[in-house]
Amino acid sequence: MLSIKNLHASVENKEILKGLSLSVKPGEIHAIMGPNGSGKSTLAYSLMGHPAYSVTSSKLRVTSLKLDGKDLLKLDTTKRAKLGLFLAFQSPIAVPGVSVGKFLRHVYKTKIQKRTQDFQEAIAINKRIDKLAETLSIKPELLKRSLNEGFSGGERKKIETLQMLFLLPKYAILDEVDTGLDVDALRVVAKGIKQLVEKGSGVIIITHYNRLLKHVKPDKVHVMLNGKIVKSGEANLAKEIEKSGYLKFKN
Ligand SMILES: Nc1ncnc2c1ncn2[C@@H]1O[C@H](COP(=O)(O)OP(=O)(O)OP(=O)(O)O)[C@@H](O)[C@H]1O
Ligand SMILES: [Mg+2]
Repeated sequence: MLSIKNLHASVENKEILKGLSLSVKPGEIHAIMGPNGSGKSTLAYSLMGHPAYSVTSSKLRVTSLKLDGKDLLKLDTTKRAKLGLFLAFQSPIAVPGVSVGKFLRHVYKTKIQKRTQDFQEAIAINKRIDKLAETLSIKPELLKRSLNEGFSGGERKKIETLQMLFLLPKYAILDEVDTGLDVDALRVVAKGIKQLVEKGSGVIIITHYNRLLKHVKPDKVHVMLNGKIVKSGEANLAKEIEKSGYLKFKN
């Protein structure tokens, strides 16, 4: 289980997360919706251990972040990722000079903690990457280009999904993975999320819209306002938000 208890987090000495609690079990899909600036990406970064986001805990106010009982707060980002936590970025950055394929192969080696790979292994990994790219309708030439450099918004989101399916994390946080996707790409990404969940992973979908949630039905929908979850409900809560906005949750 991914368990978040009473999470307080600050950036630049400003408290953004103000006591957020959430538990995600294997195979569950949780959607988090909330207005711009409510702290959704801050939650994603704090879970991953981004160094600019400091999680604050005191004797009076205990914060805990655990993945299958392991204390994430004691681990840096790499260790959290190795434990099986994954973040698909809202705005993935470009890495000039490192191709998508090379990046994925390197990440894989880090994950299995192996410095070298024999020829057969490398071929098998490449085949897996090519197959996943095909299922996500990613053009093969994109894999040869520098990671995200000059990629369209939708291509970036598909590459984030490709990374997720390649790594098969235990828990994935998808920060607006649906933003900028065309209708066909949305279906393909939704299919990818379903595949991951069927394998037993837990997923947190951060989104502004109900359109992805029509394809991947969430077990729970949470409304986040001003650094806290103020309401949790079933899938129909997302429809309600789309219809009437956040005003009624603001009291
Ligand atoms: N590095 C930073 N320095 C200063 N303020 C920051 C920093 N990172 C985040 N914030 C502030 O924290 C607040 C929450 O930002 P966050 O990105 O988590 O919101 P969000 O809910 O993801 O919004 P959106 O829906 O627009 O993506 C915002 O007011 C933002 O300006
Ligand atoms: Mg955000």
